[in-house]
Amino acid sequence: MTLNFDVIVVGSYSIDLIFSGLGEFPQLGKDVVGTDFKMSPGEAFISAVSMHRLGITVGWAADFGNDEFSRFALNSTRDEGLNESLFIFHDRPYRRISAAASYPNDRAFITYYDPDPQIPAAISALIKSQARVLYIPGLYSGDLLGVGVKLIRAKKMTLVMDGNSSSGDILGNSKQSKSIRKAINSADIFIPNAQEARRITGESNLDVAIRQLGELCPVIVIKDGSNGSYSYKNNELIHVPAISVNSIDTTGAGDNFSAGFLRAWLDGFPLEICQEWGNIVGGLSTTALGGTTRKITCEQVRKYLKFNG
Ligand SMILES: Nc1ncnc2c1ncn2[C@@H]1O[C@H](COP(=O)(O)OP(=O)(O)O)[C@@H](O)[C@H]1O
Ligand SMILES: [Mg+2]
Repeated sequence: MTLNFDVIVVGSYSIDLIFSGLGEFPQLGKDVVGTDFKMSPGEAFISAVSMHRLGITVGWAADFGNDEFSRFALNSTRDEGLNESLFIFHDRPYRRISAAASYPNDRAFITYYDPDPQIPAAISALIKSQARVLYIPGLYSGDLLGVGVKLIRAKKMTLVMDGNSSSGDILGNSKQSKSIRKAINSADIFIPNAQEARRITGESNLDVAIRQLGELCPVIVIKDGSNGSYSYKNNELIHVPAISVNSIDTTGAGDNFSAGFLRAWLDGFPLEICQEWGNIVGGLSTTALGGTTRKITCEQVRKYLKFNG
């Protein structure tokens, strides 16, 4: 029997240890003490949960190990009532941990990841299920992309890729640059943040960066923190300003943006409205510590639009 979803989210959980209220940036030989701390699941968990809360039928293709971090992520998932049919459990530790020094407008990370399973949950999910959208919460250019894209095309799904990444560009002819070009080229919608768009293209001018990305992928959406977001399609650039919020932690803002954007996109709205939804969900998510601490529903977004739109 084929499982049916609006969106299949692929990618693993991580556990974010978020330190905030830090007076200064971390430095060697110095102990910087914060005034607040939160441990919450991050990475693909944020996308899956944020979409689920917005009423999207989500199949999260996720791998878990037998360690305490996997258990923490799994319990948090169960608290949210997410569908578990695409989960794969491994009889070994699969720890994915990130410590974040969080500041009002940005954050610094240190991270540890156990090795990924040879065949990740994403591939099994693509074989046994169907969805309108396959969502990758980061710039994935790994070996499995080719197989994945074949299945995505055969099943007529739309491939939406977030730009989450810390290295890589499309410049030059290195193997990595070629595979990143191919990855962006295989997406139907690509959603990096401004910093990623600049790094990937090597262009400091965001306007030029968007147009360059537009040569690889038909719809580019760029998240730009308190500046809101841009979209670029058929040579048309649209800017939608951010909402005005008292932002305290930007962890997961981009993932929340993408969830809000997709909710509106699935409902058939034009890009400008999708950006508006993204800005509201992304912006509201920054008003609490952690990527999913503030629960945002469609009703709240509609209410926000009614009073502020
Ligand atoms: N300080 C802020 N004020 C209002 N909205 C914000 C703020 N920071 C982020 N957002 C919203 O969240 C979206 C994603 O945030 P951004 O920081 O650009 O992405 P990422 O988390 O990927 O770095 C932005 O496009 C914007 O809509
Ligand atoms: Mg991001």
